[in-house]
Amino acid sequence: MTDAWEVDPAYENYIGRWSRLVAPRFLRWLAADPGGAWCDVGCGTGALAHTVLRTADPARVVGVEPSASFAAAARAGADDLRFDVRPGTAESLPAEDGEFDRVVSGLVLNFVPDPAEGLAEMRRVTRAGGTVAGYVWDYAEGMQLIRAFWDAARELDEAAAKLDESVRFPLCRPRPLHDLLSTAGFTGVAVHPLDVPTVFADFDDYWRPFLGGQGPAPGYCTSLSDGSRTELRDLLDARLRRDETGRIALTARAWAFRGTVSR
Ligand SMILES: C[S@@+](CC[C@H](N)C(=O)[O-])C[C@H]1O[C@@H](n2cnc3c(N)ncnc32)[C@H](O)[C@@H]1O
Repeated sequence: MTDAWEVDPAYENYIGRWSRLVAPRFLRWLAADPGGAWCDVGCGTGALAHTVLRTADPARVVGVEPSASFAAAARAGADDLRFDVRPGTAESLPAEDGEFDRVVSGLVLNFVPDPAEGLAEMRRVTRAGGTVAGYVWDYAEGMQLIRAFWDAARELDEAAAKLDESVRFPLCRPRPLHDLLSTAGFTGVAVHPLDVPTVFADFDDYWRPFLGGQGPAPGYCTSLSDGSRTELRDLLDARLRRDETGRIALTARAWAFRGTVSR
């Protein structure tokens, strides 16, 4: 099963709304000087690129995105002459050597077939002394909305184990991220946790985005028979704790990473 990334409202409801909460925290951690040319690799619908435009005072921001519909949504979401989106992938960035001061990427590195190759490309298009940085979800533990989903799915279906993102993406932990950046030749490598609240008004608010088919867990969910999907739904409905107002108050942890380009 390949991961689908193309339907904008479904993506926003599933992950975009939470990535938009991580992005400002990530940028505060990065504490970049104003100005400069930024690249947002795998910009999707623009969660990170739009936040850079709004809060980091960049000279310009170029998004790179393989999905035409996500790229169109990213463009439509920012009426800003400093912003452009180019079609492309992390493995072959449509950019000149050293074109950018900062290359960032939110929730993408684990989806790049060869993350080391993706990082090498990000390094190539960053000037000496510039920064490459990003964040990925902590699928194994702190990304509770996805963790709860796979824990339930694995209880009901042995085949779900190999699709669980904590199994598919062992990179998304502090030590492997640190090692990958160090091996790629970056200096000043750092990895840092970023936690955001993910509060659902009710169970339907939690469950409906899994029916949108965007990303690994919704892709698995929509591949199930109606009966199996109902079983999974009912298990999650029984398991997720509500607060006194009926809300499901979870949290999501992302691991932010950064490194400096030295040549
Ligand atoms: C989880 S979404 C993150 C989107 C956006 N950065 C955000 O934070 O909301 C993953 C994104 O990575 C893109 N993507 C998948 N494979 C990629 C690759 N090889 N190179 C660049 N982007 C890729 C997808 O099209 C999608 O937009």
